[in-house]
Amino acid sequence: MSAGTLAAQPAAAAPPASPGAVTQYPDYAPTPPMGWNDWSYYQCGIDEKTILGNAQALVTTGLAKKGYDTVTIDDCWMSQQRDAQGNLVANPTLFPHGMAYIGQQLHKLGLKFGIYEDAGTATCGGFPGSLGHWQQDADLFASWGVDYVKLDGCNVPSKAGETDDQSYRDTYTAMSQALLNTHHRITFSISAPAYFQGTANWDSVIGWSAQLGNLWREGADIALGQDTGPDKWASIDYNYSYNVGLPALQRPGRWNDPDFLLAGDSGLSPDEIQSQVSLWSMMAAPLISSTDLTQLSPTALAALGNRDVIAVDQDRLGVQGRVVQHGTGYDVLSKPLAGGDQAVALFNSSDTAQTITTTAAQAGLHATAGYTLEDLVSKQVTGTTGVISADVPPHATVLYRVHPGAARDLAPATAITWQDVSTAQQPGTYRITLADHGTVALGDTRLRINTPAGWTATPATVTLPDIAPGGTASATVTVRGPQGTPGTTVTPVTATAGYRARSGRTDTVSGEQTIVQVVPYPSLAAAYNNVGATSESDTTPGNFDGGGDSYSTQALAAAGATAGATISANGLSFSWPSAAAGTADNVSATGQEITLGGQGHALGFLGAEAGFTAGPVTVTYTDGTTSTGQLGFPNWCCAPTDAYGAKAAFTTGHRDTPTGPADFGTSYGVFTNTVPLTPGKTVRSVTLPDAPAIHVFALSVQP
Ligand code: GLA
Repeated sequence: MSAGTLAAQPAAAAPPASPGAVTQYPDYAPTPPMGWNDWSYYQCGIDEKTILGNAQALVTTGLAKKGYDTVTIDDCWMSQQRDAQGNLVANPTLFPHGMAYIGQQLHKLGLKFGIYEDAGTATCGGFPGSLGHWQQDADLFASWGVDYVKLDGCNVPSKAGETDDQSYRDTYTAMSQALLNTHHRITFSISAPAYFQGTANWDSVIGWSAQLGNLWREGADIALGQDTGPDKWASIDYNYSYNVGLPALQRPGRWNDPDFLLAGDSGLSPDEIQSQVSLWSMMAAPLISSTDLTQLSPTALAALGNRDVIAVDQDRLGVQGRVVQHGTGYDVLSKPLAGGDQAVALFNSSDTAQTITTTAAQAGLHATAGYTLEDLVSKQVTGTTGVISADVPPHATVLYRVHPGAARDLAPATAITWQDVSTAQQPGTYRITLADHGTVALGDTRLRINTPAGWTATPATVTLPDIAPGGTASATVTVRGPQGTPGTTVTPVTATAGYRARSGRTDTVSGEQTIVQVVPYPSLAAAYNNVGATSESDTTPGNFDGGGDSYSTQALAAAGATAGATISANGLSFSWPSAAAGTADNVSATGQEITLGGQGHALGFLGAEAGFTAGPVTVTYTDGTTSTGQLGFPNWCCAPTDAYGAKAAFTTGHRDTPTGPADFGTSYGVFTNTVPLTPGKTVRSVTLPDAPAIHVFALSVQP
């Protein structure tokens, strides 16, 4: 809808008589809002050019036509001070033509104008908040042609005699009323619940947010554009996990908002990009892209612009999909759609491919002879008698629109399953099964195993017997690969079945197996990266603490910790590491397996933490058995020296920072800790905890 139409509309619902009396903000967002926001990608690095450039890109990419119609300027658009009349002022350097101009330009493009403010004394970025300026700010926004307000919840003061819940409610009520008083149709996005995530009041804050506004951020921020791919995926997975439990708290026109779509940002795999868009659509979440749209990859554009997936999100029933089946590393979600179809998503949250199987009944469809499955990404259309199944790659989501009823000659729904039948380490021997879930038999079936260069599958092609409807056929295949390098190597291997259905059509289905090879490091020291300790003459930042600071090599030397030196403490003995910088980071415990020999009563560790955590150590013995123990150390500067049962080994006087040595009034310790060994057994290897805050400088079997 263009701004012209908006302006010509009659006034919004008449405002209630007294402030604070808002009972129900109008339904300005009958379907989940869609658009773009600068925050995740740009943060404060915005100006008129970036905003209007991205707005233009929404139009030229075709995304605007598909519903992405609101451009929201997030934090940092303001000057530090209000003007003499108390009005907010756009930063004149960043927005030389002011905000009314931005509104006009966006409206000319047929887009809506969204703006960020805060319900407290200051925004999260430290710019003037709206507290006490509700009507003045709302009127100013309306005069700029603003169509959407995101009101954040940083710096909301607690009021004497009130709970935080009440203080927040008062402020958001005031803005809700002020926006109503403008008589402009302004979609209201509330951030209050995000400040109550994890508290007992979370649900009640969401409850009043659903009265006062149209959508609400209820949890943690999604990762930023400059974060790593793994961090972005972890944040998508986390925001999914808290949002997926809240379907009872939304309703049409009142939307849970798990934050921005990251499609387009570097670092995410195509499957991860697609997963986020599919899962957000299943949850009827706002689809708000935050990326540089002027250089969107074709993969990201295809994921954001998939009309069939958008239709699931925007479905007029407005129901948030629910988890109908949950297993190890996977969820099945189901969402009823207008007209009787059901959207069903098979989400593999694990790091390895798996076949996820559910049924139409489990997904809430009524019983009927057959169902049509439309894969909304691949566009493949198949028929099933009820089983809904697919081999889903790691972090991927397969999204079907399921329609009760199926044409007789429809291609049958099929799925491949890999089963590891070898006891040895991967790669090994696998049983690969092709299942026919449709109503017609499969013939001329050939299974081909596609391996990467240097890998083999024996046999690489197999002819399978004919498969009756509802039946399966299997083949056993041995996969071999080159010896991996120390550490963990992940190799996908794909099986593709080609077949002819009795109806005469040929078709294919693929299924992946994720082969994870773990090759122990020959020793801890061989893979040791001196990122935990840097020389004071070296300005390259170390990274012991995740913030660019490390132990000082000089301070360590003063305490006797030089390359190869024997460190004896608490009855334990170690050799201080000496490997060159640039080797794989092995000082931060990320689940590495280290080769070690010998027999003893305990495994001794020398280390420290940049955090406050403990994690399991697994010891593997030469007879193949294992034992486990917990390992943690005190924080390098700031925890009791006996945390997690550790003992102080020695302390150093200061740390090293990118600008040289720094003494923050504390010393930096190194500690010992132990994990018991099974008496009489010979150690073969040790697997460190998967807890990067734990740093291990040395380990040894203590006789
Ligand atoms: C909070 C919000 C983000 C963004 C920033 C701006 O963190 O949750 O979405 O608006 O503030 O400072």
